[in-house]
Amino acid sequence: MAEYRIVLNGSERRWEAPGGLSLLDLIRDYAGLTGAKYGCGEGQCGACTVLMNGRAVSACITPAEAAQGAEVNTIEGLAKGGRIHPVQQAFLERSALQCGFCTPGMIMGAVALLASTPEPSEEQVRKGMAKHICRCGAYPRIVEAIQLAGRLQREARRG
Ligand code: FES
Ligand code: FES
Repeated sequence: MAEYRIVLNGSERRWEAPGGLSLLDLIRDYAGLTGAKYGCGEGQCGACTVLMNGRAVSACITPAEAAQGAEVNTIEGLAKGGRIHPVQQAFLERSALQCGFCTPGMIMGAVALLASTPEPSEEQVRKGMAKHICRCGAYPRIVEAIQLAGRLQREARRG
């Protein structure tokens, strides 16, 4: 057994659990947050993307030990004060999903992309989101939504 300690969506959490877990196991099976999805399990599809210390990571291939003490943010922690995050709002406004399986990972990836590139071109979105696979092929609307989210965030900052 091992002790795992992470700051999950702003709250410090601890678990006694078997050694060798992935961060995705810890989040889904021990914290009970099922937004991050298990897709490929090999770091190839982006469905499990969460933020670790502000960086988008594939939780399926991140050992939970590597997240000891880290700030981990999942889709469940994005809404604040009863308001959904601008990236969530933009995905809704552009209907940028079909089955929704890739969506939590897409949204977390987009949050990280927009933090480093607040006004991305279409090419920058496509390049920045290249690790995310949508089996429904909703890419054009996803790209539009991420650019809209950037605009919403910039407007919110301007007040
Ligand atoms: S499930 Fe993690 S990248 Fe596919
Ligand atoms: S909306 Fe179905 S996989 Fe992307």
